[in-house]
Amino acid sequence: MLADVAALLRCPQCPEDDESALVLERRTLRCPRGHSFDVAKQGYVNLLGAAVPHHADTAAMVAARDRFLGSGAYAPIRDALRARVHPVEPDDAGRPLTVLEAGAGTGYYLAGALGERDRGLALDISPAAARRAARAHPRIGAVVADTWAGLPVRSGTVDVLLAVFAPRNPAEFARVLCPQGRALVVAPLPDHLAGLREALGLLEIEADKEAHLLARMAGYLVPDGHTDIRFSLRLTEAAVADLVGMGPNAFHDRSGEAGPLPDEVGVAVRLWEFITA
Ligand SMILES: C[S@@+](CC[C@H](N)C(=O)[O-])C[C@H]1O[C@@H](n2cnc3c(N)ncnc32)[C@H](O)[C@@H]1O
Ligand SMILES: [Zn+2]
Repeated sequence: MLADVAALLRCPQCPEDDESALVLERRTLRCPRGHSFDVAKQGYVNLLGAAVPHHADTAAMVAARDRFLGSGAYAPIRDALRARVHPVEPDDAGRPLTVLEAGAGTGYYLAGALGERDRGLALDISPAAARRAARAHPRIGAVVADTWAGLPVRSGTVDVLLAVFAPRNPAEFARVLCPQGRALVVAPLPDHLAGLREALGLLEIEADKEAHLLARMAGYLVPDGHTDIRFSLRLTEAAVADLVGMGPNAFHDRSGEAGPLPDEVGVAVRLWEFITA
């Protein structure tokens, strides 16, 4: 719920150095200078401060992602993230963590990462995604926000930040993390879903993606190890439709290009761990 995370949020309309927390009064978030943001009836708040861009994930894309992830297809990725957030299962003695997911989509990974008393902040540029993330877990608050525009989050408040198949803003990630904080970044390896991409003529993964990632992090976040997650996925027709429908390829008409589909496909992603520089 937003009440769990309101104190982490800062006003997108006030000067950047104003770190005052927003206060939730009934169904409105307010800053000390009088800006106010209404909480939608579905429980999320829009702090974009601008129109929703046309490339934001649509309700249909979010529904496809929800069905695909709900089938358990990517559960090994969720389990790996949880294991990094909580190397030891959380117990009552442990300090509750604040976990933020940037580009959270449906909130699937964030919900999976939370221990018993942790709280989660799901940020996404898509209102449809924020709507879904708001009900992914009782202690998740969901906010519409643009990772590139700067996070509406107070500095040094986050223990663990997740960015899973989502845009990264290293300066902002480093700013919101607390001194011992960690960023966990999941990105596809070059052979991720290779058989499926080939059969459907889908967008390829750029070969130099990883070099790019590390170069952009430099100065803000330092790599502290990585784990490769590989497993094979049985592909039903419904899974293929949802995989295509939930991703950027949904914006391209690829009909007519499809070859025979493989029965199984390899999932190959790298989970990076970063600490602040
Ligand atoms: C490939 S999806 C990943 C969603 C989720 N992390 C998952 O893996 O299920 C990318 C997400 O990033 C969001 N996104 C794209 N651009 C963004 C931006 N500039 N700021 C915040 N979110 C953004 C999209 O709306 C989408 O939900
Ligand atoms: Zn303000």
